[in-house]
Amino acid sequence: MERLDPGPRGGLGRLTEGRGTVEEGFRAIASIAEVPEGELRAFDLPQGRVAIVRVEQEIFAFGDECTHEGCSLAEGALGGQEESVICPCHGSEFDLRTGEPLEGPAEDPVPVYRVREREGWIEIGAIGEEG
Ligand code: FES
Repeated sequence: MERLDPGPRGGLGRLTEGRGTVEEGFRAIASIAEVPEGELRAFDLPQGRVAIVRVEQEIFAFGDECTHEGCSLAEGALGGQEESVICPCHGSEFDLRTGEPLEGPAEDPVPVYRVREREGWIEIGAIGEEG
């Protein structure tokens, strides 16, 4: 016997929105309103702390921990070209797209994440799945 169950929300083919929603490897981590344009924010995720910034309609997501001595990049500042972030501790600068250090003393890149905006939520993909 077949039983049609619309589920508790009665939605048809609609994903539940909210933190922790996983779809195609993406996870919603914040509403777009939580990350004002040009301001750095950090969020604790299972894979570690991730920094998010929106610059001119684009969203970037990268590991918050500086590879030099571990300071929070979200407490730093955007670089002059606004596609880099500068560590508040010793001034290492990282490319927002690649995570590569543009200026030392850091020598190693920070991880970068695929990121997108969907229905008012910022979602990031799994680590190492850039692009
Ligand atoms: Fe970031 Fe030293 S901890 S530059």
